[in-house]
Amino acid sequence: MKKIGIIGVGEYLPKKVLSNADLEKMVDTSDEWITTRTGIKKRRIALPEEASSDLATNAAKDALKNSGLKAQDLELIIVATITPDMQFPSTACIVQAKLGAKKAVCFDISAACAGFVYAIITAQQFIARGAYKNALVIGSEVLSTVTDWKDRNTCVLFGDGAGAAVLAEVRSGGILSTYLGSDGSLAELLMVPAGGSRTPASHKTIDKRLHYIKMQGNEVFKLAVKIMADAAQSALKQAGLECADIDLVIPHQANIRIIMAMAKRLGLPSSKIYLNIEEYGNMSSASTAAALCGAVKRNRIKKGDIVLLDAFGAGLVWGACLIKW
Ligand SMILES: CC(C)(COP(=O)(O)OP(=O)(O)OC[C@H]1O[C@@H](n2cnc3c(N)ncnc32)[C@H](O)[C@@H]1OP(=O)(O)O)[C@@H](O)C(=O)NCCC(=O)NCCS
Repeated sequence: MKKIGIIGVGEYLPKKVLSNADLEKMVDTSDEWITTRTGIKKRRIALPEEASSDLATNAAKDALKNSGLKAQDLELIIVATITPDMQFPSTACIVQAKLGAKKAVCFDISAACAGFVYAIITAQQFIARGAYKNALVIGSEVLSTVTDWKDRNTCVLFGDGAGAAVLAEVRSGGILSTYLGSDGSLAELLMVPAGGSRTPASHKTIDKRLHYIKMQGNEVFKLAVKIMADAAQSALKQAGLECADIDLVIPHQANIRIIMAMAKRLGLPSSKIYLNIEEYGNMSSASTAAALCGAVKRNRIKKGDIVLLDAFGAGLVWGACLIKW
């Protein structure tokens, strides 16, 4: 069995910071409410001229530099995003052109906040069966473009950013086990209702604000805790490991209370959980991607460590991936 691992990570966060104090001037909310209910203090907002492919390309360049590979070496590019530059072509193709990665096969994955984990696991399959030698996997989102800045229930949660990882065969360590799940019967809990073939864009859809995120936050919250804990257990079981063997969890950063409730279920101390939610909010697919990069750059992950990526999102979808670093 080939060992497939991550040989480089990268991130890009737009410069503009939107603080809770800024949000207090936009909707009826408070820094105190947002901090205690979500753990978020700030989030980044892309410039009007920055699209997902721009954030993705910057994160990709950072990851390539760390991996030692050149763009021309890349054989596969997968971008996980729910805020693509446009309906088509894929954002991955746009990133390919920006990088000059002429040899790469490119496509996008739509798995919302679990997109980065889905994309890592997809890339692993292609490399393991010998189809490609390496892959660039990116989670990139400009969620500010689908956030309803008049809805206090959702606008305090989201931010923009990108993270990337380069995968290839490794001599030691690598991906130990993977687990994915989906439940489309829960699709209505979290969605952007208009702009697709079901409800194409019209004056009416714009007047009704149907191009923005609609969420039943409470329901998602309850499901997320159980789903993330179960996904972690399934990945551990497959690898023949126990929770105590985990050195660091990189969870999707939706709400600090979800993350800590999940950690409690698994019996994991908070010292083993990597957080970037306070700084960046929920960046969907970019959250786990940028968190993995942040953990590596801050030396929170050492060679030989057991790292768990664990995410859930709209669909509903979820996924976990255990990696020996
Ligand atoms: C959205 C979320 C933070 C709301 O927290 P909550 O504790 O469930 O709060 P509730 O929805 O019960 O709302 C409590 C009250 O706060 C109010 N409220 C909601 N947003 C608010 C805000 N930004 N500022 C102040 N008050 C707010 C509500 O209107 C409600 O008031 P009411 O009791 O008078 O009706 C939480 O449910 C959550 O994080 N859910 C998961 C979301 C998620 O993960 N989404 C992405 C999945 S990838």
